Amino acid sequence: MDKIQISFFLNKEFKNIIVPADITALEYIREYSGLTGTKLGCGEGDCGSCTIGVGTYHDGAVKYMAVNSCLMPVAKMQHKHIITIEGLANDENNLHPIQQSIVENHATQCGFCTPGINMSLFCYLLNNKNPELHNALSALEGNLCRCTGYESIKKVAEKNVAKYKAEQFTVPYYFEEIKNKLSLLKKDTTPSTAYYLPHNTTELFNFLKEHKQATIINGGTDIMVNKNIKGAKYNSLVDISEVNEFHYTTISDQTITIGANITLNDIINNKEIETFFPILKETLSQMASEQIRNIATLSGNICNASPVADTAVILMAAKADLLLASSNNTLRKVNIKDFYLGYKKIDIKNTEVLQAIEIPTERNILFSFEKTSKRKAVDISTVNSAISISINGNTIEEINIAFGGIAPTPIYLTAVNEFLTGKQITEKIVNTAANMAIQGIRPITDMRGTEQYRILLVKNHIIKHFHKLFPQII
Ligand code: FES
Ligand code: FES
Repeated sequence: MDKIQISFFLNKEFKNIIVPADITALEYIREYSGLTGTKLGCGEGDCGSCTIGVGTYHDGAVKYMAVNSCLMPVAKMQHKHIITIEGLANDENNLHPIQQSIVENHATQCGFCTPGINMSLFCYLLNNKNPELHNALSALEGNLCRCTGYESIKKVAEKNVAKYKAEQFTVPYYFEEIKNKLSLLKKDTTPSTAYYLPHNTTELFNFLKEHKQATIINGGTDIMVNKNIKGAKYNSLVDISEVNEFHYTTISDQTITIGANITLNDIINNKEIETFFPILKETLSQMASEQIRNIATLSGNICNASPVADTAVILMAAKADLLLASSNNTLRKVNIKDFYLGYKKIDIKNTEVLQAIEIPTERNILFSFEKTSKRKAVDISTVNSAISISINGNTIEEINIAFGGIAPTPIYLTAVNEFLTGKQITEKIVNTAANMAIQGIRPITDMRGTEQYRILLVKNHIIKHFHKLFPQII
């Protein structure tokens, strides 16, 4: 395997290292640097025991976020400030106040989850000058504890939120010095075929011309799971998360356009997107965990082509277009409902890259998203669905219903949508549509649910959407 050379700060130390390109940040931290406070639990983003803080310098400030280091390729440490549990305290004799309150509130037993819980809470409080308990608890949704019980952990969150509402957050003494040093690091491109991080489309397409079999990675929360858990091998990964031309969000009267490397949390925190398309925030907030949403992207979720991708169904209901950039400077537009060709097969050439998602912002459209899963957070849907509808009086002018988890790809229910168009909304019509929706579908039976359960969910989701949107009728 190719090696890569990267430079970054690990807690207060500068590192310039040459390591195999295919290891994770967690492997580097534990096995190469010897900092074993960060733990390996699941290796797939579910438990949060590997949570670290990742700081990126931009315009005179360092923005920190909590990340699952088991899902972070080591190459992504390039030019970053990595904070682990060992870097929170100012010295060996003084714990960080968050650590101290974990001790005082008996919020740890075996201690396996504790470093991750510290790091998630640390990053949340660091980023929020006016912290709120419910947001702090959301930031902890991706951290599992199997022995202490969550009451004492919740007490720690409560006490720290109250403390840092009243006073300034305590950062380790060396943070200011690291900020100055980070600003001086030269932002060069990682010269590696195994893991290439282009900064613009020229670098990206030149690389793709030379490496036709390269796999695009953008967030990597699926690719890294494939690698860690299923043993998938990638000879060449090209990471588009730092391509300048893909980092934009524009909002016009007609459309919201979201660039390929905008993360799910960037979208959730964008007030303008929330104003024009609030259902997107609602949908994304139910996906994964804070740590995953900090690095995962909408475009990554779409291109991963999971049959049950939450974003695919909401974007199908919204009639979104995908803008595909290619090496010859052309932009091809494909409607998302035509994008999925079969299980994990998408309409994209190996010279093309998804550059942005364009979502119409028509007025007077009602949206609803439903997800059935075992856990509220960090869980894959058994079945998900979304609906957009415009009405005139009680008559449906236009409707778009899409489902995930019932076929090899997310699907748009063309026949049901055509049937409902022009109809008055009544209980009978909705029931007829729900029965139509299950005609001809053959969902799989797996650990998330049987074929029969999924069929029942399809009917129930349709009825629930109408019940939510038109409670006076249904
Ligand atoms: Fe479980 Fe990383 S080891 S989320
Ligand atoms: Fe044991 Fe949380 S203290 S898993």
